[in-house]
Amino acid sequence: MYKPFEIKQNLFYVGVNDRTKHLFESLWPLPKGVSYNSYIINDEKIALIDTVDICYSDVFFNKIRSVLGDKPIDYLVVNHMEPDHSGSIELLTKRYPDIKIVGNSRTESMLKGYYGITENVLVIEDNEELSLGKNTLQFYLTPMVHWPETMMTYVKESKTLFSADAFGTFGTLDGGVTDTQLNPGRYWDEMVRYYSNIVGKFGSPVQAALKKLSGVEIETICSTHGPVWTQPETIAKVVSIYDRLSKYESENGLVIAYGSMYGNTEQLAEIIAAAAAENGAQNIVMHNVSKSHESDILRDVFKYRGLIIGSPTYNNKPSPGVESLLSALQNRNLKKRFFGFFSAHTWADGAKRDLKAFADGMEFEMVCGPVEMKQSLSSDVTKNAYALGKAMAEKLNSGADVVPQKTDCR
Ligand code: FEO
Repeated sequence: MYKPFEIKQNLFYVGVNDRTKHLFESLWPLPKGVSYNSYIINDEKIALIDTVDICYSDVFFNKIRSVLGDKPIDYLVVNHMEPDHSGSIELLTKRYPDIKIVGNSRTESMLKGYYGITENVLVIEDNEELSLGKNTLQFYLTPMVHWPETMMTYVKESKTLFSADAFGTFGTLDGGVTDTQLNPGRYWDEMVRYYSNIVGKFGSPVQAALKKLSGVEIETICSTHGPVWTQPETIAKVVSIYDRLSKYESENGLVIAYGSMYGNTEQLAEIIAAAAAENGAQNIVMHNVSKSHESDILRDVFKYRGLIIGSPTYNNKPSPGVESLLSALQNRNLKKRFFGFFSAHTWADGAKRDLKAFADGMEFEMVCGPVEMKQSLSSDVTKNAYALGKAMAEKLNSGADVVPQKTDCR
């Protein structure tokens, strides 16, 4: 039998760690695993907040029993219906047939669609309250953080926010659950990767949710993934990471992401990077898209203000890894970046055409015209590549804000 972990009085952690899955959503690597968090508020009425991925339902039910024994659960609050959190709902209703499921009108239709559940559903409105006895739940609808039904649940008396995916991160909870038991430093980079991969498209809804919560006093954040945040400094840090990333704000630094078949395009990337470094650029990160996982490239692109993308032409398109990256950046509405691009071709420059169309469609500031190479490096191409790296370094070091426009540095 598990020993129940009490986060604070009558609030128990009953989530699970997943160190088995290789890819979250079958897309994003999990080198440090992930947790699916669930919580019990053990009051006069008992509430369970979210469930876990169905793969871990047995562990989950054992944890619930370790807290409650044979006692029934009065409410299941569903903050988010994505199956990593809702996956155990159907089994839960079989074990606890009288449980009332609490959600909003969008949750209600998803409960029916996913699990055929139409009875014992309590539909709440934005700001509505539900008393458990000593704890009062207040519901905040926060659509599109990360799905349309997403909401957060706040306990007024203990100032605890159950925030669904918001403020979440990849990384299992090894031994402990709270930020006082774990090393928060282990999670910051994974939080940026989680945000940019999973929530990155939804900057405006995240901003709307942060605005809605701005007057709410928060002493504990219980997200669906990662540590429970209990300390003022870590709460300030996680809120600031989500605030900054959802505004597409970034640090001084440069990502150069490129494809290369035989190393010629890569040589261009090297010249650009060396020129940027020679002219004072800091935090230069280079990614060969054929080797780096897109998940890591997205993390770094969300982190740093400068972005240069290069590609050879392959089947009259950019190389597949670059095409995929361009699509991922468009999909996430990335903005506020200093940008440049370079291309290489043998007879037809489809890469240049598509990179230009990408640049034209984004709210980026082009720091220099494109660098184009046909077949091999000439002295003119080398000069242009150097000019791009230099122009990027100067922009990054100027401290200027990004202004969507094209600048010709040559
Ligand atoms: Fe962790 Fe959007 O589910």
